[in-house]
Amino acid sequence: MVYIVWWKESVVYQIYPNSFKDSDGDGQGDLQGIYDKLDYLTGLGVDVIWICPIYDSPGHDNGYDIRDYYSILRKYGTMEDFDRLLAEAHKRGLKIMMDLVLNHTSDEHAWFAESRSSQVNPKRDYYIWRSGKNGQVPNNWESYFGGSVWKHDPETNEYYLHLYTEHQPDLNWNNAQMAEEMYEMVHWWLQKGVDGFRFDAVAHIAKAEGLPSAHNPDNLPVVPAYQLFSNLEQVHSILNKLNDMILKPYGPMTVGETSGLGPEQALAYVGTDRNELNMVFQFEHMFVDAQSSGIGKWNHRDWKLPELKEIMSRWQTVLHDRGWNANYMGNHDQPRPVSRFGNDGKYRVRSAQMLATWMLTLEGTPYIYQGEEIGMTNVAFLDIEDYRDIETMNYYRQHIGQGRAKHEVMQAIWRKSRDNARTPMQWDDTKHAGFTDGEPWIQVNENYPEINVADAERDPQSILHYYRKLIALRKQHKVLIYGAYELLLPDDPDIYAYTRTLDEEQMLVILNFREHEPEMQWPEGWNDENAKTVISNVSRRYSTDKGAILLQPYEARIYRMQR
Ligand code: NOJ
Repeated sequence: MVYIVWWKESVVYQIYPNSFKDSDGDGQGDLQGIYDKLDYLTGLGVDVIWICPIYDSPGHDNGYDIRDYYSILRKYGTMEDFDRLLAEAHKRGLKIMMDLVLNHTSDEHAWFAESRSSQVNPKRDYYIWRSGKNGQVPNNWESYFGGSVWKHDPETNEYYLHLYTEHQPDLNWNNAQMAEEMYEMVHWWLQKGVDGFRFDAVAHIAKAEGLPSAHNPDNLPVVPAYQLFSNLEQVHSILNKLNDMILKPYGPMTVGETSGLGPEQALAYVGTDRNELNMVFQFEHMFVDAQSSGIGKWNHRDWKLPELKEIMSRWQTVLHDRGWNANYMGNHDQPRPVSRFGNDGKYRVRSAQMLATWMLTLEGTPYIYQGEEIGMTNVAFLDIEDYRDIETMNYYRQHIGQGRAKHEVMQAIWRKSRDNARTPMQWDDTKHAGFTDGEPWIQVNENYPEINVADAERDPQSILHYYRKLIALRKQHKVLIYGAYELLLPDDPDIYAYTRTLDEEQMLVILNFREHEPEMQWPEGWNDENAKTVISNVSRRYSTDKGAILLQPYEARIYRMQR
């Protein structure tokens, strides 16, 4: 069999441009900053960089509120800077993936200005407008960022729909002209030479017909209504058309952000016969430590390893040979993985390496979020004033407003705020972690003197060097990319172990997710003799006197079957 699909074999590095590297001292990252770090990225061994939105935007949701799809936000640079970055990246064999928001625009987008100006404006129907019901909002849907999805606009005395902030009005994909304009815009970026897209919130571009209210037994003012605006049939016809008309001739890498689905449903997007997307970001594993999905993320529950394994394994096996996975453990919307699934104290280095081993040995394209490769941790600002994320600020306001104790609210924020992942990249131990010469837009995590790239470069045992080895290893062994996955010990509360098999080649991955030292028997067919260590995050590996495997805290081992 010949396996050569570049987007399957790639490792993606996600850049949050505002927090990556500032080149001009304004305290915010920029395109020149990314340009200056291209050597660092190629040195890490990644193939693709995904850059979060850099388009012109008023920045209510850090760029996910696009004012103009055709221009670059001034603080990031100019379109010439982007072209230069793209050319230089290509010269070094790096591809660039754009983050495109198709679900909504900024309320400062020219279309919205027209749309809101009158009920008969030709662009009125580009967005979703409704009149109120007896002086109330048109339905009871709750916004992702709290409150109603409806905002009253006095100009025409109607409401517009926004699933996110009120500054992000949702587009109406039933309007053919709007859809045409969006397709054209995607085409424009492809012609420029970009290599792929991450389609933001794409699961939500279609809403249930008639916008019916969600089931509401307690008669609350607003309720979660995800099923009425997620993964509906019309999303697939739109993507199909986009692919046929625009994407196909260019063959870009595409990943859709699709919350609220399991792997069987995901096949509707990524199935080899579907002609839609290459892969999707699923969310099931992101809610293992939450009471419920969506806005329920703030209510913590302790996560259990068997549940995490069950979710990941279901995705691994259902998509095998039928579609393709995108694997991630963190991004700009999630807490730092080492703080969430590892140990950000005594075992920070070892547990971050263990988690990296996990991500880089699953079937699917691995995504590394900036800072993961040096084990950056969550942050705990004492004062809400130090937070910048709109979702966090809304949560705080709403819950303090409801009379909840401040320390409880802050606790939830320390655990789940998106700002955990948005503090500046820690490059070295100089002021502001070498991120900027000015005042950073959000404070640097105070642990930067110990956790930074320069230090990691000097230490051969660092997380960074370990990532380099893992990425190289993945490229060297196709079994780690394409091999069938089989979970071992599904109920074990501490150990996550699996095999990957491709033709004659087999690998065994063993991960200890705990601070204690569990034992494990060799799986069938494996033993001390035929198992050849490929990589590990500890220098000495132990066995019990009965020949079983004895794992140290957060140990990771990969073995290759020696036949
Ligand atoms: C998902 C993005 O990742 C997030 O940062 C953003 O707030 C929402 N979509 C809305 O665009």
